[in-house]
Amino acid sequence: MKAIDTASMRAAYRPGFAMPRDFYMAPEVYESDIRDYWNRSWIWVGHESQIEAPGDYLVFDYGPESVIVARDRDGDIGAFQNVCRHRGSRVCLEASGNTRVFVCPYHAWTYELTGTLRRAREMGEGFDPADYGLLSLHLRNFEGLLFVCAAENPPEIDEGLAQLAPLVAPFDLRNTRVAHTATYTVPANWKLAVENYMECYHCANAHLDFARSHSIKDPGHKTEVLEQAMHPRSRAAGLPVQKVQRYEPGKATLFYKRYPLFDGYQTGSRTGEALAPLLGSLKGFDGGATDLQIGILNNFIVYSDHMVGYRFLPVSQMESKIEVVWFVRAGAEAGIDYNHDDLTWLWHVTSLDDERIIRHNQEGVKSHHFVPGPLSEMEWGIAAFYDDYFSVSAG
Ligand code: FES
Ligand SMILES: [Fe+2]
Repeated sequence: MKAIDTASMRAAYRPGFAMPRDFYMAPEVYESDIRDYWNRSWIWVGHESQIEAPGDYLVFDYGPESVIVARDRDGDIGAFQNVCRHRGSRVCLEASGNTRVFVCPYHAWTYELTGTLRRAREMGEGFDPADYGLLSLHLRNFEGLLFVCAAENPPEIDEGLAQLAPLVAPFDLRNTRVAHTATYTVPANWKLAVENYMECYHCANAHLDFARSHSIKDPGHKTEVLEQAMHPRSRAAGLPVQKVQRYEPGKATLFYKRYPLFDGYQTGSRTGEALAPLLGSLKGFDGGATDLQIGILNNFIVYSDHMVGYRFLPVSQMESKIEVVWFVRAGAEAGIDYNHDDLTWLWHVTSLDDERIIRHNQEGVKSHHFVPGPLSEMEWGIAAFYDDYFSVSAG
């Protein structure tokens, strides 16, 4: 097998063009994708409301990796590698739950909620449990959204989050809860799924429902007019009108922009009507949607009355999961404050479209006759992904 690493991929990278077949198909590249990119990037793992009580935990998996996110008895949240310090077994086998301690199913090494090793039997003299706590990850809690990074020196994020905080404050994302989670499995390399999200060149074509309401599918004069008309409405609703776009090596990518929906649409709904109670302190609907990206891998669309979180997780080289999480204001109840099917309709049908087009993309990219073509002006986000990928992977 010929040796392929990210250095040779980088050499093959022709700015302004799609990537060659090996980028998606070579097993060695997949191995380094996880080791050198995912494990050095910030990853959105959940929301603090999912682990509200002491002892609550969730497990987050990507590729061969598994992370435990737990709230300890003091109410502090920590993140740990779900890998036993004895002989490496998975420690926690449930996707979520509440526990007093984590007991490894193999030889019963027992870990505290803080990751510290409490007990290990028959280890003899000189064994110090303090040396064998679960390996921890960096964790940030931004407005209730939890991000982890396994790297020793993670990409800069604190400055960026401080910059975003006043912009998202009116949504009070801390005060939201998960209304629904959906997973769409796609037989494709994870990079094709990320690339698909990074551009709206395909939207007008592939997402007829989305394109009916979201002006982003068609940048240009008409959209600018709509945007200018939206700004006073956004201010009146209590939303600052400001764009953030940070693509810098060594720093977590940040993107924040509120863009207009077409006239008649208050939110991302089928009919244009509101779907749920307004988020946070918003005083009304401005007919806009916010694209929010915190690290290339973590994407959110914030409407006035709900938020949709998006992520694309590697399962194996040729399999990925599109995971979509719908958030509503905390306390909002299905059947009373919102209708579940109406709330989830748009991004469900849109994700089905994406599953289909990503699958077909992968089928073509498998061919030895695939020659990478030029990116359109609307695909600048893909180039931003490649730049982040190469800069983070280089270490
Ligand atoms: S592998 Fe966990 S206790 Fe042995
Ligand atoms: Fe799409």
